[in-house]
Amino acid sequence: MELKGRHLLEPLNFSVAEMDDIFELAERIIKNPKNYAEVCKGQLLATLFYEPSTRTRFSFEAAMLRLGGQVIGFSEPNSSAVAKGESIADTIRTVACYADIAVMRHPKEGSAIIASKYSDIPVVNAGDGGHQHPTQTLTDLLTIKLEKGSFENTTVGLCGDLKFGRTVHSLIRALLRYKGVKFVLISPEELKIPEYVREEMKRAGADFEEILDLKAALPNLDVLYMTRVQRERFFNEADYIRLKDTYILDKAKLSHAKESLMILHPLPRVNEISTDVDSDPRATYFRQAKNGMFVRMALIMKLLGIE
Ligand code: NCD
Repeated sequence: MELKGRHLLEPLNFSVAEMDDIFELAERIIKNPKNYAEVCKGQLLATLFYEPSTRTRFSFEAAMLRLGGQVIGFSEPNSSAVAKGESIADTIRTVACYADIAVMRHPKEGSAIIASKYSDIPVVNAGDGGHQHPTQTLTDLLTIKLEKGSFENTTVGLCGDLKFGRTVHSLIRALLRYKGVKFVLISPEELKIPEYVREEMKRAGADFEEILDLKAALPNLDVLYMTRVQRERFFNEADYIRLKDTYILDKAKLSHAKESLMILHPLPRVNEISTDVDSDPRATYFRQAKNGMFVRMALIMKLLGIE
């Protein structure tokens, strides 16, 4: 099946082969961006951001502009008719009259799914509450592929807020389709992965453990995926303050890790990676952010059926 006209709401909407096609195109774009500078001429991308964002929105907008297309949207829902009480269904129906593809971030789980039901144009979920974030997963996977070659037989540590971290939920779901991936889930008791994710791992027969101690886990990891404690999803500030600095990766701790470790982070970082790690060759998170733009260029082209 081709990707033209499809929605991307969660990672499993695309098969492994379809994701490979996107990565392959992203790699071609990275090698030769000039060849793609005009391919989306005359096409319009709409960004509907009901929640703050830097990388996701800018990388989508930069991606469309670098493909020669144009961009409309809001990054502050109160500047649109949302402030007047318009529903997601009506907003997307309207946007679909003007644009060719829509990217949506929303604080409520399931909002992108609702939008997709009312949309004639492809809807991309750029994060729905604490649920899923599939384009971050494309970014993460492309980064692992470019720097490690493959996903198979890797031990992946995911550390921090595994409960509310939507990037974690999407990444695990996607990685479960590859052979020999071992998961080490590092979090405080209160921020363990949701039961539905644990069930998915069990159903897939995945090798996983849930532990508290980052330092103990470090020596075995090939990839370490650090995450921010998701302040905006907490019911009370005191819990956030108590948990926010549970894990801080610094140079001293890194001395226990493999030389070949890859440190990923979807960003924004708050305190969980000390800036003294940034100059370490294992710190991959800013290259990861850059890959996010290229993989979104490839995604936009595929969903618009351009090539
Ligand atoms: C993530 C998100 O929005 O879920 N950021 C991103 O898209 N790169 C992670 C986060 O906000 O912590």
